[in-house]
Amino acid sequence: MNKFARIIGTGSYLPPMVVTNDDLSKTIDTSDEWITSRTGIKERRRVTDESTCDLAVIAANNALDMAGIAPSELDLIILATTTPDKIFPATATMLQNAIGANCPAFDLQSVCAGFVFALTTAEQYIKTGAANKVLVVGSETLSRIVDWNDRATAILFGDGAGAVVLSGSEETGILHSKLFSDGSYLSSLQVNNTRINETGFIEMAGNEVFKIAVSRLSSLAQDTLTACNMTAEELDWMVPHQANIRIISAVAKRINTPMDKVIVTLDKHGNTSAASIPLALDIAVRDGRIQKGQSLLLEGIGGGFSWGSILAKF
Ligand code: ACO
Repeated sequence: MNKFARIIGTGSYLPPMVVTNDDLSKTIDTSDEWITSRTGIKERRRVTDESTCDLAVIAANNALDMAGIAPSELDLIILATTTPDKIFPATATMLQNAIGANCPAFDLQSVCAGFVFALTTAEQYIKTGAANKVLVVGSETLSRIVDWNDRATAILFGDGAGAVVLSGSEETGILHSKLFSDGSYLSSLQVNNTRINETGFIEMAGNEVFKIAVSRLSSLAQDTLTACNMTAEELDWMVPHQANIRIISAVAKRINTPMDKVIVTLDKHGNTSAASIPLALDIAVRDGRIQKGQSLLLEGIGGGFSWGSILAKF
């Protein structure tokens, strides 16, 4: 049995093609001013011929490099994605093969909460001793399920990947996690296909999603701090799902956390669903903001709805 599961490496990857707000305003009735003021997003990335697996491979290798772990040392791979490359096999198995690992690998689907669900699952494997080194990846090619003529959704989403390597440790790592789902919100945020092999696009009741996200995430953030006997002042960083700056700042305000303790990267990549938290985490680790030993509150909410939080020492 391991006492803690600790993050020992992070990685991320964004595909090179940039789509700015001005680019979008050439094809749909919107503007840089509207998108920036309502969402905080300035640009997003879009794959050309890269797959969800291709993005995951680069993010995973970056995380493995930072961790100093060879793929052969991994005991488990969990890939959180809403946009798997195929109905089967799991994109995680393609990732396993591409990086040269030989451990079990599975996909986990919990939309924008996918990374929090995957990290919590990985922590359970580590704490029971069933695994010692786990690669957790969030990778998305959401551009494939965005209706680029729908200005309500096309402005929000982007493609990308983020990854962490978790290891069993005596040193403090993940301290607390909590997950929730409520499937009664299906129609608020879903993909509108009726059969699994039919193309569908993201359909969203934006205002409703906004209100639910703020209320669920702020009460969860407060409950998480309370469960860890921590005050907001003791928290070093909030690393939220990068959906909308107004959701993020409303949650931060409700838990009395100043925005200079919140990692915000969505201006550069938009909402990348399951990839957004590890992407933001990796950017802030690599630019030196997040330091070893600091406390992190990760939280996310996703379609239809699932949501969750993790409090960890980095
Ligand atoms: N460009 C210009 N105008 C627009 C656009 C656009 N892209 N989209 C809508 N409008 C117009 C509307 O038609 C409306 O016009 P009207 O007043 O003449 O009727 C006006 O702008 C206001 O529209 P609202 O939908 O009320 O705008 P709102 O302030 O709610 O912002 C948004 C919309 C950005 C989608 C917001 O509701 C939101 O962010 N919701 C959360 C969605 C989200 O983050 N989803 C991600 C998945 S879940 C998650 O990750 C939390």
